[in-house]
Amino acid sequence: MIPQSTIDRIVDAANIVDVVSDYVTLRRAGASYKGLCPFHDDKTPSFSVSPARGVCKCFSCGKGGNAVHFIMEMEQMSYVEALKHLAKKYSIPVEEEEMTDEQRQKMNERESMFAVNEWAAKYFSQTMMNNQDGRAVGLAYFRSRGFRDDIIAKFRLGFCLDSPDAMSKEAKAKGYNEKYLVDTGLCVKRDNGTIYDRFRGRVMFPWIAVNGRVVAFGGRVLDGRTKGVNQKYVNSPDSLIYHKANELYGIFQAKKQIAKEDMVYMVEGYTDVLAMHQCGIENVVANSGTALNEAQIHLLHRFTNNITLLYDGDEAGIHAATRSTDMLLAEGMNVKILLLPDGDDPDSYSRKHNAQEFKEYVAAHQTDFILFKTNLLLKDAQRDPIKRAQLTEDIVKSIAVIPDEIIRSTYVHECAEILNMDEAILMRGANKNRAAILENLRKEAQRERERQMRLLNQGAETTEGGNSSAGPATTSSTSASTADASAANASASEDDPFAGLTPVDDTTQQLAPEENQVDIQSVITKQSQSEQRFLGLERLLMTLVTRYGEQLVEGQDENGEPKQMSLAEYVEGDLSYDDITLRSPLYAKMLALTCQHVHDEDFVASKYLVNNQDEDVSREAADLISDRYQLSKGNQMSQSEEERIVPNLSRILLDYKNAIVEEDLKQCNADLTRPEVKADITQTLAIIQRIKELGELQRQLAKLLGDRVVVK
Ligand code: CTP
Ligand code: MN
Repeated sequence: MIPQSTIDRIVDAANIVDVVSDYVTLRRAGASYKGLCPFHDDKTPSFSVSPARGVCKCFSCGKGGNAVHFIMEMEQMSYVEALKHLAKKYSIPVEEEEMTDEQRQKMNERESMFAVNEWAAKYFSQTMMNNQDGRAVGLAYFRSRGFRDDIIAKFRLGFCLDSPDAMSKEAKAKGYNEKYLVDTGLCVKRDNGTIYDRFRGRVMFPWIAVNGRVVAFGGRVLDGRTKGVNQKYVNSPDSLIYHKANELYGIFQAKKQIAKEDMVYMVEGYTDVLAMHQCGIENVVANSGTALNEAQIHLLHRFTNNITLLYDGDEAGIHAATRSTDMLLAEGMNVKILLLPDGDDPDSYSRKHNAQEFKEYVAAHQTDFILFKTNLLLKDAQRDPIKRAQLTEDIVKSIAVIPDEIIRSTYVHECAEILNMDEAILMRGANKNRAAILENLRKEAQRERERQMRLLNQGAETTEGGNSSAGPATTSSTSASTADASAANASASEDDPFAGLTPVDDTTQQLAPEENQVDIQSVITKQSQSEQRFLGLERLLMTLVTRYGEQLVEGQDENGEPKQMSLAEYVEGDLSYDDITLRSPLYAKMLALTCQHVHDEDFVASKYLVNNQDEDVSREAADLISDRYQLSKGNQMSQSEEERIVPNLSRILLDYKNAIVEEDLKQCNADLTRPEVKADITQTLAIIQRIKELGELQRQLAKLLGDRVVVK
């Protein structure tokens, strides 16, 4: 962990214009600077940098933040890595804070493994370039396959001498611990306790992770020896620093170009990646013969939505191409496929053609995946009705996983044409599959919510219903009238328990997926709409807290007397008065942190939160202050701003409470329809009573809010 004071120094030193200028050409535009966004294919300058606020933001794709966040995004680094990167740029020494013994040991182990891997990569490369055997065998091999020296250097290729322990001896002589040679998999331990070099006699391909660190190696036997050797390629085993299934070969060398071109080519092998780079196609990664998994897709998704699978056109290639595509589609990726002429992989193809021809072939032969699959399966199933039915089912399944409705319906239309069948039938099939998928998602979300509720309820029983039924609700200014209202309610309920009952809300009822697919989607949307509304209001609140948290505003003390307090404490106090905790754990944390430090000397909420040691806090705060419609230029609120912000603040708080009451009401109404409640008159009456109280509260809030429209 980097100490807070050091983070402050780094962020203070890092001039945002200076940092961004390393990557983007900026032009002055008034108080800020503008340039083409480096994170997406930008045609007009949407990337704006504000030196006054120390932040940047793309108003088209939304990416940005302070200098640290910019580096994280640009270099695909972690928070700490980006801080260190900037510290280096501005020559600020970074000494890490004390860690627990366990943390230190784990950290040390990982660092030691990275260190030995980094050393080994250099060693293998030097061996290949300088050692006599290395040149005669290793370098000669790569040259014979036509790889240029710049490509060999770019991918840090190397050679491991054909000796049982030449590498490990050298490593130990250089002071590297045998334990890490074994842990990284560079060496294998024999039963008798001695070790030998795993990769002896192989040419070496280091796996370089997205942040530039060597996490593993692949070693290939030389051509002459492939016979009788059971494995052409040997890979480092999984370890503390390497999970083969999550890595993509070539990502480090490709990431900038992937982001720039907003698309990535996926190939099978190491040499395919090299061959494509040699042709000038640099946005390419390999999954090394395995099926893609979710972690790999997420890794790619950080850079682009568009993926083209590039395989050889034989049966095996086609099979490989169709394996993980549904997963890609489900993640919202646009998938294309490109088959090379039968028997060629990118490596062999590129050796038969020049770079220009290769590029042209690639540009001309990409096909949309769903249409490709439809055509492919159709060829198989031409005259066989059973096969045709299976084929339809198969295609419909692939279409159903696509999150975007418009894209789905476009595919249905086009596939119906290719298959020469009724579009409505295909659509029904796709909808049915989609409903099943959504139902699963809904159940998953429900389970997640229940889990969160359980977590929330642990140790916090008192908050249940606190915001509305227990004691005076809403702000101190309304508490008196609310108490009156409760009294009035109590007597009213004795006369007519059903008075004030609102109609049952049906969105919480279960729907069978077969009956009506559309409604299931609407249930989900409605649920998430209400979540969205809460989050939207919390975001507004926290925008004010982040920007003006330390500013003094007029509030009230426990006795309702006027009292000056910081805006953050005002929000905190107002919410806790009604036993309300912000739903977003991150916002709750930000608010708590701000209140905790607001009396620190020279405290400025925006600075404190943006520079926070907690990466999530820092990112979110940077986002909240980088809004285009920032009210204030400096830190001090102007008189007119204060006049606008403070009423704004209480309005947002009221809206927020109103949303909570509305949600409670919905829940009560839904509870009333539950069979076990229906059978129990006491429970029913209690709920009805609660509904009436909530209804009254709602009216109170409405009065306070005036008759203006409630923010949705
Ligand atoms: N692979 C592996 N282990 C193996 C075989 C293959 O890790 N035993 C991975 C490698 O990343 C390899 C990829 O799967 O690059 C594709 O395998 P293959 O097509 O057999 O190798 P090529 O890349 O074509 O290698 P070469 O051209 O050197 O034969
Ligand atoms: Mn090959």
